[in-house]
Amino acid sequence: MSLPASPSASRSPVEQAAATRPAPEASGPIVADDAEPSTTPATAGQRRPRGSYWITTFGCQMNKADSERMGGILEAMGYTVAGDEHTADLVLYNTCTIRDNAEQKVYSYLGRQALRKRADPHLTLVVAGCVAQQEGEALLRRVPELDLVMGPQHANRLASLLERVESGQQVVATEEHHILEDITTARRDSRVCGWVNVIYGCNERCTYCVVPAVRGREQSRLPQAIRLEIEGLAAQGYREVTLLGQNIDAYGRDLPGITPAGRRAHTLTDLLAFVHDVEGIERIRFATSHPRYFTKRLIDACADLPKVCEHFHIPFQSGDDDLLRAMGRGYTVERYRRIIDRIRQRMPDAAISADVIVAFPGESDAQFQRTLALVEELGFDQVNTAAYSPRPNTPAADWSGQLPESVKVERLRELNALVEQIARQRSERYLGRTEEVLAEAVNPKEPSQLMGRTRTNRLTFFPAAKPDGGDHRIGDLVRVHIDAVRSFSLSGSAC
Ligand code: SAH
Ligand code: SF4
Ligand code: F3S
Repeated sequence: MSLPASPSASRSPVEQAAATRPAPEASGPIVADDAEPSTTPATAGQRRPRGSYWITTFGCQMNKADSERMGGILEAMGYTVAGDEHTADLVLYNTCTIRDNAEQKVYSYLGRQALRKRADPHLTLVVAGCVAQQEGEALLRRVPELDLVMGPQHANRLASLLERVESGQQVVATEEHHILEDITTARRDSRVCGWVNVIYGCNERCTYCVVPAVRGREQSRLPQAIRLEIEGLAAQGYREVTLLGQNIDAYGRDLPGITPAGRRAHTLTDLLAFVHDVEGIERIRFATSHPRYFTKRLIDACADLPKVCEHFHIPFQSGDDDLLRAMGRGYTVERYRRIIDRIRQRMPDAAISADVIVAFPGESDAQFQRTLALVEELGFDQVNTAAYSPRPNTPAADWSGQLPESVKVERLRELNALVEQIARQRSERYLGRTEEVLAEAVNPKEPSQLMGRTRTNRLTFFPAAKPDGGDHRIGDLVRVHIDAVRSFSLSGSAC
């Protein structure tokens, strides 16, 4: 790992640069204070030419959505997108710490930028996201060249935090924070599919997971704010939205209100119905679902609401009940099986994807075999697999029964081979069928083709040229005759 030397090392250009900063340096970094109201670029970080910016995003869809909002804030401040990470005036790493290798990746990127900053003190270096939250001030000690360390709850405050950096401070913003609505326009990567956060944070306590520690308590956005964002997306020509939350089934449980029937007034099911009729939006997805809270009512709503796509991402983590209990997941394999059965009763062609952890502390070979058996039995379209990685301040990291790397590698290899084989079988069902595909982008490997996904989330390639002349355009819903299938993608010709 190439990390810069500690600040006490011999005098380097960066120390001279730091010395030009005003006094606050003397009393250490400024830890952003929640007493100060959050501001948005409308009132802070006034727009003026500020040079170029580069954002690299690690981790999950939540981070991708945050990066798009932070990109929007930077542009509202007057930054323009850089052509190259190594010449940008501001570099922001939006980081992930879900597993150790994700975290280590960030340090190697940072090492390179820290070196650059020694030569060019004008570079503004920002670490946002989950490593920032986990490490806080310790990151500044490790990488003293950093200007701003900001946790995920502070993404919408980027403008006011950068203003403090511009006044010469090193800033750490990691305190628990009520996330305010951001009024800037996100700079979205896609012109067709938009992420929409509906609930931030996670109140679960899975014994392996850092997310609750780095993303904080659950905070649901109000249905009206969510609908307004979706209407805005529709007005810009977006056709698909994905509602996002680490535990999206928890949506609304922190919002007040009870229905006359004694139910919570705000649930994911109600939210889907509430946003369903936004004109112009043709597809609605949501992720990530938790089997503990996935209800029959939700399944019925998905079956009944035509825009909700027949794809469900429901991590099961392990096929063994004792391990599920040790993980603190709050469901059994049987409950998981019933959810999938119910989905397939109502939507026979539904695609199911999941996340699985192998080599959790104490996982025996027999327990691992139960995970393999479940993957085979339920026939997943896609499974994200990972070997257990001990994380700081999580209970399972301190348990006995940690498994050696060799077991992790071997189990992962075996599971991945099975996942691929099952996914391939699941792909077979598309052969010869005609599927509705939303054209999302040009195939970067073959510019005469467009690519998009079926309603069931299978990546699909097809020729941009229409059979009767003209071209399909990005944003079109195209009927594609599938004539080639692979484990995780399809190809076909537009009809
Ligand atoms: N909220 C989702 C997933 C969040 S993290 C859920 O409840 O399922 C994404 C995935 O990373 C998890 O589903 C899990 O499979 C994996 N993961 C989380 N912590 C991990 C760890 N310590 N080691 C290995 N994989 C982990
Ligand atoms: Fe982590 Fe569990 Fe929350 Fe998912 S539900 S983010 S695995 S604590
Ligand atoms: Fe990673 Fe944070 Fe997402 S730890 S998986 S970026 S919530």
